[in-house]
Amino acid sequence: VDSRPIGVFDSGVGGLTVTREILRQLPNESIFYLGDTARVPYGPRGPEIIRRFALQMVDFLLRRDVKALVIACNSISACAFEAIRAVSPVPVIEVIRPTVGAAVRRTRTRRVGVIGTAATVNSGVYPRHVHAMAGRARVALQSCPLFVPLAEEGLYAHPVTRMLAKEYLDPLRAERIDVLVLGCTHYPLLRRDIAAVMGRRVTLVDSAGPTTRELCAVLEEADMENRGPVRHRFCVTDASPKFLEIAQRILGVNIQGYVRQVTLDTEMLVGEERLVRSA
Ligand code: DGL
Repeated sequence: VDSRPIGVFDSGVGGLTVTREILRQLPNESIFYLGDTARVPYGPRGPEIIRRFALQMVDFLLRRDVKALVIACNSISACAFEAIRAVSPVPVIEVIRPTVGAAVRRTRTRRVGVIGTAATVNSGVYPRHVHAMAGRARVALQSCPLFVPLAEEGLYAHPVTRMLAKEYLDPLRAERIDVLVLGCTHYPLLRRDIAAVMGRRVTLVDSAGPTTRELCAVLEEADMENRGPVRHRFCVTDASPKFLEIAQRILGVNIQGYVRQVTLDTEMLVGEERLVRSA
């Protein structure tokens, strides 16, 4: 039994798609959400910068005494999972391995597509996991750099989004994939636009369900479930009305009273000693 909150973090609003699923599957858990809205997007950045930003968020969350960390971002999972695990005294759940597990279970043709940010695609982590789980499967990768700003701007079912979706996804249609991994936690916001281009025969798999199931298993195994009262908090590095608007759209509730703007310790260096250990 452990009443501490679960730390969930992302570069911006994308992690809320995972948060929604955690709230659904684990209604007795408290969530401490952190979105680095002042520095989103992470995807076009290099792995070292992403690692540095991610460790600053981890430092912030560990100081708030979270009992587990959920990296609700594929770009951070791809570039910083090992670095985060190395400094974290609490369990760390990332999104990529559970999502690949779900994709591999669903494909019949063993032709899997993955869309993500440039950081995620360039990391090579997706093909690595797919090949580890389903040896001969074919992986078709495509980075969709403009999807994140479109999702952050709330341009769902917008002509610009439709046009870009076609541009990005047509090469994947040509690969005759039967499963497409939405390898970025922002992309479920554009799910309809993506489905409209891919057609009914392609199953879309996102990170929220599989990652939450992994989190459930970790909490259960370690006997860390909460039995006390629930209290959620949402922190962002830039509290704009847009965040509230999109949060409301994703979570279905107005979280205005629960959102705080915070400052991360950006002086903190990667792997620095004073990273707080909350154990
Ligand atoms: N939502 C994030 C992901 O899953 C990153 C988006 C971004 O900041 O570029 O990759």
